[in-house]
Amino acid sequence: LETKERVPVIYKHFQECTGCSMSFIKMHNPIVADLLFDMISLDYHDTIMAASGRQAIEAAEKTKEEYKGKYILACEGSIPMADGGIHSVVDGKTHIDIFREYEKDCAAIISYGSCAAWGGVQAAAPNPTKATPIYKLTNKPVINVPGCPPIPDVMAGVITHILTFDSLPELDIRRRPKVFYRHRIHDNCQRRAYFDSGLFVEEFDDIGSKLGWCLYKVGCKGPVTYNSCSVMKWNDSTCWPVEAGNPCMGCSEDNFWDFGPIFTTL
Ligand code: SF4
Ligand code: SF4
Ligand code: F3S
Repeated sequence: LETKERVPVIYKHFQECTGCSMSFIKMHNPIVADLLFDMISLDYHDTIMAASGRQAIEAAEKTKEEYKGKYILACEGSIPMADGGIHSVVDGKTHIDIFREYEKDCAAIISYGSCAAWGGVQAAAPNPTKATPIYKLTNKPVINVPGCPPIPDVMAGVITHILTFDSLPELDIRRRPKVFYRHRIHDNCQRRAYFDSGLFVEEFDDIGSKLGWCLYKVGCKGPVTYNSCSVMKWNDSTCWPVEAGNPCMGCSEDNFWDFGPIFTTL
């Protein structure tokens, strides 16, 4: 990788909360500084760049012209399509117009987060702004990296795969990299033996919760959620939601906000 030219990346924010960018800067394998200084040239990012205003936009426009067909467009957030797109406007342009401007000449798109991949909370019923996932708006190759937010090292892994192999990672039918999304949370969960034994937490302060039993009856969506949390974990691989006692909300799944209550009692 050290001998390769740094790949230009334009990272655009649409309708989102910036949580995915927070996750992005927490990557530790590689650490984000190594990614930014040695591997990619992050030429535009709304929140991680020294320049601001017109100067920042000019940096993105320059990359777009100089690296036609070569730059990667990273997207965070979905695009509001209702009412001509006026629900989200930056620098006097709607998100859909900005997206079209940068999508046109990119080599590939990475949709970071469940907003970009599926629509996110803003697409929850009745989806008043018609928040639309990126893959529905383009014919370019799209890698969906869902999660709210995605795991930092998954975000890093997707981009380092592209840099290392000069190709996109193998994707499943929903455009997710198979290497990170082929298993359900439930398949590798450390509480799985309790599920198989029928030992369930019934309330959050009961004896089962103190003993680390399965969280299915208090709302865990691990059996229907494809993600790597139970293998790769979070916080520098030290912990993850279910290990900490919180049911999986299914945050990497399409329409997870419409699944029903996050916490339940059966
Ligand atoms: Fe925020 Fe979640 Fe959307 Fe990422 S996927 S921008 S963390 S709401
Ligand atoms: Fe499956 Fe959730 Fe129980 Fe883990 S806690 S075994 S993911 S239902
Ligand atoms: Fe999301 Fe479930 Fe992992 S809520 S962070 S997919 S454990």
